Amino acid sequence: MELNINGERHEVEAPADMPLLWVLRDMLGIKGPKFGCGVGACGACTVLIDGIPTRSCVTAAADVEGEVITIEGLPEGERLHKVQEAWIRHAVPQCGYCQSGQILAAVALLAETPHPTDADIDAAMTNLCRCGTYPRLRAAIHDAAGMEG
Ligand code: FES
Ligand code: FES
Repeated sequence: MELNINGERHEVEAPADMPLLWVLRDMLGIKGPKFGCGVGACGACTVLIDGIPTRSCVTAAADVEGEVITIEGLPEGERLHKVQEAWIRHAVPQCGYCQSGQILAAVALLAETPHPTDADIDAAMTNLCRCGTYPRLRAAIHDAAGMEG
C-alpha cells in the first residue's frame, strides 16, 4: 500500500487489515501516536486524515486514502504549530501519554470552530486523559484561539 504521511509518500507491505497505528509505530517508526485501548475509545492513537481526527488503532491502513498528519508533522517549518505553543505556555501535559492525540484533536477543532466555547471544546474533545489535564487543555485551546478563557 502507499501512504502519504506528514508530506512524504511511503510504500508499505502489510496485511490489508493491519491498523494504521501499527504501520505508523512498528513499520515506519513514527511513535507520536500512542497505543492506549486499541478499541477506538481513548483517542491516544489520534492522527489527522485530511484534517479529520481519526483513531488509527481502528482504521485499516489499506483504507487510508488521504493525507495522514501525526504530531511529528504538525510543526510548520522551524516553528511549532500555534496549538503546540499554547500547550507549552499552559504546561498542559502531566504524564504526556494522551497529549499527541489531544493536540491533533484541538487542531481539528480550531480549524472547524476558530473560537470555541467551553461547551464546544467538551463536545469535540472526546480524547481521554487519565491525568485529568482537561482544565489546562481548555485554557490552551482558548489561548490558541486568541481568546484567553
Ligand atoms: S488506542 Fe486508539 S482509541 Fe485508544
Ligand atoms: S497527560 Fe497523562 S493521560 Fe493525559
